[in-house]
Amino acid sequence: MTSSGELAAPGGVLGRSRAEHATLPASLPEHDEIAARRASESATETVVVLDFGGQYSQLIARRVRECGVFSELLPHDIGAAALRERAPRGLILSGGPASVYAPGAPRLDHELLELGIPLLGICYGMQLLVRELGGQVEGAEIGEFGRSELTISQPGRLLAGLPAEQPCWMSHRDSVLRAPPGFTALAASTASPVAAVEDAARGCFGIQFHPEVVHTPYGQQILQTFLRDICGCTETWTPASFIDEQVASIRAKVGDGRAICGLSGGVDSSVAALLVHRAIGDRLTCVFVDHGLMRKQEGEQVINAFRDHFKVPLVAVDAETRFLDRLAGLTGPEAKRKAIGEEFIRVFEEQAAALDGARYLVQGTLYSDVIESGGTTGADTIKSHHNVGGLPEQMEFELVEPLRTLFKDEVRRVGVELGLPERFVWRQPFPGPGLAIRVVGGPATKDKLDTLREADAILQDEIRRAGLYRELWQSFCVLPDVRTVGVQGDGRSYGRLIAIRAVTSDDAMTADWARLPYDLLEQIASRMINELRDVNRVVLDITSKPPGTIEWE
Ligand code: XMP
Repeated sequence: MTSSGELAAPGGVLGRSRAEHATLPASLPEHDEIAARRASESATETVVVLDFGGQYSQLIARRVRECGVFSELLPHDIGAAALRERAPRGLILSGGPASVYAPGAPRLDHELLELGIPLLGICYGMQLLVRELGGQVEGAEIGEFGRSELTISQPGRLLAGLPAEQPCWMSHRDSVLRAPPGFTALAASTASPVAAVEDAARGCFGIQFHPEVVHTPYGQQILQTFLRDICGCTETWTPASFIDEQVASIRAKVGDGRAICGLSGGVDSSVAALLVHRAIGDRLTCVFVDHGLMRKQEGEQVINAFRDHFKVPLVAVDAETRFLDRLAGLTGPEAKRKAIGEEFIRVFEEQAAALDGARYLVQGTLYSDVIESGGTTGADTIKSHHNVGGLPEQMEFELVEPLRTLFKDEVRRVGVELGLPERFVWRQPFPGPGLAIRVVGGPATKDKLDTLREADAILQDEIRRAGLYRELWQSFCVLPDVRTVGVQGDGRSYGRLIAIRAVTSDDAMTADWARLPYDLLEQIASRMINELRDVNRVVLDITSKPPGTIEWE
């Protein structure tokens, strides 16, 4: 995405003259060198997306992967040297919020043009290419946001095989008015005189619209043309190829060492554990700490799947009493979290100490965690206490994080490929401190937790039967520590209150309350009141996030 900024100093000058670039990328010496090196390696073919701060940058990386090409999202200023090491087949410059001519706006590192690989600029990325290579980009009075019509005058290599007219999705205020010398203007849109450009000989391509969003129906085809026909990718990256590659790399790292993995039953730790087990077999031990704060039968499901079905060495610790003792009298969510976190570490530490010689700790860190923490280059070994919320310093593990390059939906696909049961693959997010933070306004005692667990089981059962489980980001019950009056049978009751929380969301940053059908809500409420002696009232939370949060705490 781009927006207009102050008109400011002109863009930079070309690092090299056009003549120096006037050959096909494939014949550039650097390219030959990179290609030769790649040919001698079994490395995955990669296309790097350089992030200029656009809201769709991650989506671009995901779309590239959907084409079967592994894609990494890296900061725009990562530098040519770091890119050379990765030897990508192509580079994509993402959109971004700045104006290319604004002071301090991210610039194009001219060394990128010397990598000898094709380069595709999208939105801000295209404007950057155009401006830095001598074309004209200017702020327009009227922006172009949302649907627009693209008219192709000359398809060139990038838009080959596409209809002359097609819808596309735009999100910019600045516009390209003139392509740089040597470039061909390929298309215009409703408000952009130049909406696509290329200099195929130089390996430079640009599109103003967003191919990664679904509102650009030919967007994926354009990305595929770039990857397959222009970058020469073979499009062989799949969950299965990922598994093979990870298994090899885990074996190389762990050698004949032993590893330990804290298994929670969530999709991330489950998939990480299975992958590592495939790589090193019984030299992996999983530790499942049942803190008594899980949902109904969750502990049994983890034990059945991992120990009985997958034959993964599993230490299951029934620590309910320890955790309940620690939680006694604690009312506030932070106090509960802290107590649970500390107790978890203690239990884990005891189990780890009992396992002789485990040097490696398996964690289900995802690519989104890596991007969020700004650590895309990946510091591999860190002290465990930084990562597991406080493991003592003397327990210094080397981390094995086989999912650190995957997005959540890719982890699910890998899980399916590894044979992980549907219940684990599609499990809704569940907070580490479990049901304890869903008993609100009072201590999480055994009887309240049991009531909450039963209510939650009814909710899940009905939601699954209605076929809505996967459509919801989360659905759960909350037990506020109050009692209300009711009339049941011939007498008054003074029973517990259950609140239903069901939300839709893409990433938990924002969420909307789910419009569950009235009949379903009625069925849920009546089952809870009829089946749970203690419950006499059921309410529905209709707060979105913001202003609410998903959990009540
Ligand atoms: P909120 O309540 O902040 O939650 O809207 C956003 C997402 O985070 C989950 N959540 C947690 N996950 N440990 C976790 O592993 C926690 O302490 C925790 N607290 C909230 C929550 O379920 C939602 O998906």
